[in-house]
Amino acid sequence: MTSAPPPTQAQAAAPAPLAVQDIAVRLGGELILDGVTLDVQRGEFLALIGPSGGGKSTLLRVLAGLLKPERGTVHIATPPALVFQDYRLLPWRTALRNVQLPADLGTGGGLAPGEALKMVGMEAYGPYFPAQLSGGMRARVALARALAQSGDVLLLDEPFAALDALVRERFNAELRHLHEKTGRTTVLVTHSIREAVWLADRVAVLRGGRIVELLDTRGEGRVSAYTDGLEAHLRAVLGTGDSTRLRLDSVRARSRAWVLPVAAVALALALWAWGRTP
Ligand SMILES: Nc1ncnc2c1ncn2[C@@H]1O[C@H](COP(=O)(O)OP(=O)(O)OP(=O)(O)O)[C@@H](O)[C@H]1O
Ligand SMILES: [Mg+2]
Repeated sequence: MTSAPPPTQAQAAAPAPLAVQDIAVRLGGELILDGVTLDVQRGEFLALIGPSGGGKSTLLRVLAGLLKPERGTVHIATPPALVFQDYRLLPWRTALRNVQLPADLGTGGGLAPGEALKMVGMEAYGPYFPAQLSGGMRARVALARALAQSGDVLLLDEPFAALDALVRERFNAELRHLHEKTGRTTVLVTHSIREAVWLADRVAVLRGGRIVELLDTRGEGRVSAYTDGLEAHLRAVLGTGDSTRLRLDSVRARSRAWVLPVAAVALALALWAWGRTP
């Protein structure tokens, strides 16, 4: 973002905190990522967009060091903090104790838990359990937990997907503010083209297992003729069709799912009839 402090000379010369080169990932026998090359610069805000099922979460897991590609190289300077698509808060822990989790697991070292909760405006809700919090509040707690982790890279997997439009707009503004304040290198997965253009310095489009576009968005943080043009371009790249992609083997498996129960009933009937024959 333009208002984030410019990198010092030493920072600019430092290698990218995250880089992947020509990686391939296969899941369930299918190539999900194939030939992805991407680096994220220190302090940068990069948005990752693409069709559903296109491999965004998979790429984020590689960048977090949670998934090893079958091909290619991965460079991760320090272990990043990842906010999962479904938050993954522990239901038996209060908000504060969820944020304390990294420290308990030995991966703390970021903000102090109380401070992290305050940073996301949740300091009054530390004693509440996840089930007592709204979706937006849970998203904030998940963000606070990531801020309590060590390292200066934040990976966010659609953290605001479940929020309504108004809350989401406010969260986006807060996320920008947070990025400006902490200067953490950030990768955000989002389905919203506008959000990506508005928030990020660069937007990467992941489609068909590879990065098909890498756009410099200047991170202007406002809607302008320039961002309008970028949005239109990204819409053209992504198309308007339904982007859901089901794995065929699971569909096939489901379409054959009736065979076993029907066979079991037929067998039971046959045995019953056989038992009745004198
Ligand atoms: N553990 C797994 N085993 C087999 N296939 C998987 C596994 N995890 C993900 N996939 C498949 O990999 C593909 C990419 O999944 P991924 O979750 O990375 O997509 P995505 O771009 O994040 O989608 P969305 O926008 O819906 O979150 C999907 O087709 C999915 O079914
Ligand atoms: Mg995903």
